[in-house]
Amino acid sequence: MPSVSEILETMEYGPAPEANDAVLAWLAAKGGRTRHFIDGAFVDPAEGGSFEVVNPASGEVLIAAAQGGKADIDAAVAAARRVLPAWSALPGHVRARHLYALARLLQKRERFFAVLESMDNGKPIRESRDGDIPLAVRHFYHHAGWAEVLEAEFPGHEPVGVCGQIIPWNFPLLMLAWKVAPALAAGNTVVLKPAEFTPLTAVAFAELCREAGLPAGVVNIVTGDGATGAALVEHPGVDKIAFTGSTEVGRLIRRATAGTGKKLSLELGGKSPFVVFDDADLDSAVEGVVDAVWFNQGQVCCAGSRLLVHEAVADRFHARLKARAQRLRVGDPLDKSTDIGAVAAGVQLERIRSLVEAGRAEGAACWQPDIALPTRGFFFPPTILTGVAPASIVAQEEIFGPVLVTMTFRTQDEAVALANNTRYGLSASIWSETLNVALDAAARIKAGVIWLNGTNMFDAAAGFGGYRESGYGREGGHAGMAEYLKAPDKAARKARRAAPAAAADFTAAPAPAVSAADGAAPRLDRTAKLYVGGKQARPDGGASYTVSDAKGRPVSQAGLGNRKDIRNAVEAAQKAAGWSAASAHARAQVLFFLAENLEARAQEFADRIEALTGVTPEAAAEEVALAVRRLTFYAGYADKFDGRVQSTRSRHVTLAMNEPWGVIAIACPDEAPLLAFVSLVAPAIAMGNRVVVLPSQAHPLVATDFYQVLETSDVPAGVVNIVTGERAALTATLADHDDVDALWTAGEPGEIRAAEERSAGNVKPVWAVGPGGLDWSSPIHGLGPQFLRRSIQVKTIWVPYGE
Ligand code: NAI
Repeated sequence: MPSVSEILETMEYGPAPEANDAVLAWLAAKGGRTRHFIDGAFVDPAEGGSFEVVNPASGEVLIAAAQGGKADIDAAVAAARRVLPAWSALPGHVRARHLYALARLLQKRERFFAVLESMDNGKPIRESRDGDIPLAVRHFYHHAGWAEVLEAEFPGHEPVGVCGQIIPWNFPLLMLAWKVAPALAAGNTVVLKPAEFTPLTAVAFAELCREAGLPAGVVNIVTGDGATGAALVEHPGVDKIAFTGSTEVGRLIRRATAGTGKKLSLELGGKSPFVVFDDADLDSAVEGVVDAVWFNQGQVCCAGSRLLVHEAVADRFHARLKARAQRLRVGDPLDKSTDIGAVAAGVQLERIRSLVEAGRAEGAACWQPDIALPTRGFFFPPTILTGVAPASIVAQEEIFGPVLVTMTFRTQDEAVALANNTRYGLSASIWSETLNVALDAAARIKAGVIWLNGTNMFDAAAGFGGYRESGYGREGGHAGMAEYLKAPDKAARKARRAAPAAAADFTAAPAPAVSAADGAAPRLDRTAKLYVGGKQARPDGGASYTVSDAKGRPVSQAGLGNRKDIRNAVEAAQKAAGWSAASAHARAQVLFFLAENLEARAQEFADRIEALTGVTPEAAAEEVALAVRRLTFYAGYADKFDGRVQSTRSRHVTLAMNEPWGVIAIACPDEAPLLAFVSLVAPAIAMGNRVVVLPSQAHPLVATDFYQVLETSDVPAGVVNIVTGERAALTATLADHDDVDALWTAGEPGEIRAAEERSAGNVKPVWAVGPGGLDWSSPIHGLGPQFLRRSIQVKTIWVPYGE
């Protein structure tokens, strides 16, 4: 025990442990094992297995948890499905009361949950007490509010159904809240599988559900490992999978759900940049790094783990950072003065060690403070790797530990290029005292969340989620709610019945099999080319296929595009990035001009449609008129589909900016070849995307005629690229392509399945568009905001505001 004068000399302070008796009593009362929570009751696993839950700070076993098997998942999904109609039919304000009750109860037990979380996960009590648990409480309150205002904000929408939710171990209760609260607010029911390292707060939450009187079956919790998760993913009774975890497992889930029609949202890994400009407040930025990569032992998907610092201040910054890291306290998570607790599991510790070794082997210099680590448990010191090459393993791989890699830059452009030099795009932290510098970087860095002069801030009202291989879908705020809702398709079906001319008459001749031209077809008037980079282009292979009219007579040849043509089209679309940067006003003008020019040639298009598809002259004229209407509608919306300012609790204006995806690939159906083409292309380009379109395979000439309309309407080269040919094969190529950011397909189920499977590689979203899904042909979807929502991804930017 040091004397008072010694303490005053060193300013060292002794341990200040948080009491854990309530948690120990709770564990003891369980009789050695936890159970699943299914249909409102705690049940033993059907197959009887269990796994050990370890306290990572000591290595001691806390308890055994039930290992969920297929039968448990079946029972949980059945319960969720049974109660779904009743739960979703409750008025929003009644569901709001349930969520409110959960929030209240959780708030009353904050201390208990904080201690349990720290014992199970190893995170410092300071963080679970001040971060995880209060944020989880806030999430339930916020979403109680969404249940109240649901009908006003999302009129006519329906819940998706039974949601399978799989969460990681880094923020166990908070991730549960992120998943469960919006799902319930929207009227869904839930089967949740917590991570195997950290199931305990979920079990305690199940007890709260019982106590709060939540109807049985609305929330079901099945504990277990990856196999339990896989059983949930594969269950046919699940309508949506929401996953947070590694990119690797995200890919498995994408493949497993391909072709099933299950809605999917993925929150995956990251390697987020922390950019320090030379005019930054360096002391604040040093504190920022502490919060960015040493918070939660660096086990944060959005950890600012790549420090990019301006060369002019790099030495100073590194020196201050090391001095600060030297003073971080690593140790007992239950000690209130601990800064860095235990890593969640032994395998994670090994993973961190081996990656740091890999960094050393690649020539990075490794700095660690001169501090003693606890002798038991899984601890790793704060670590800084300098002299790291941008392409090295440690600069590219997510380490998921308290390890910072650092690089320097000279110019703003170089900083942005380095920041974007990653396959991920979850978040970025930007430090500069100059407004223009910070906001310019915020606009150019490709990431779903950007913090200006701050880091790792979260709020239920702010959307969270990634770009690129960090996944898709958002959690929190308006965008997060949309993930748990279906657009009003009942109303759409009704409207379709009421206005048959608006859609039902567009039954086209079936697509002919593509065959190379045999030269024997009589009186072919011409060969329609592809349209790439603003120019008509011959297909790379020089091949074409015969296009027939409604009576089966060959009328023309169309280019048979191949992989190379797709590559050229994507490259042209990539180059047309200026379109995404153009003002919304400018894009609106171009769309209005397109409408005007299409209308001027309405008769010609109607005749062509009639001849090619065999619809009546009235239906053909109607199709053109509707296509014109779509163009003016999306022109009108181009500068009105705005982002939001989200009401987060801190002193920020937290912007939700609607950003285009970049390049969207669109595979059109054969019905209504003009209307489908326009209904899909117009919203995408209105929001600033560039597109590569596969027009109707059976009736490509309607699209190839459209080139002239594009050419006369000031559409910049490369914004709309059209490749004719075999849709299934070309769609597959587009799904594989790394520079295609999203894919919409109106293809056959087999094509959709193949595209979804292939998209797993580069984690691009694939949406089925057409009757039964997001329906371009229905007036409700085709003249509404639904396609605009699919044309953007939300970038959340936290801008300091006020004091
Ligand atoms: P993981 O992705 O395997 O685990 C996350 C969840 O997925 C757990 O509940 C797990 O049981 C479940 N799961 C595993 N395999 C599954 C499958 N085939 N089907 C359905 N569910 C499945 O993550 P893991 O192995 O624990 O951590 C490995 C690395 O992943 C970490 O080092 C880190 O780099 C990254 N990670 C990223 C997270 C994030 O928030 N972005 C969270 C957790 C891990």
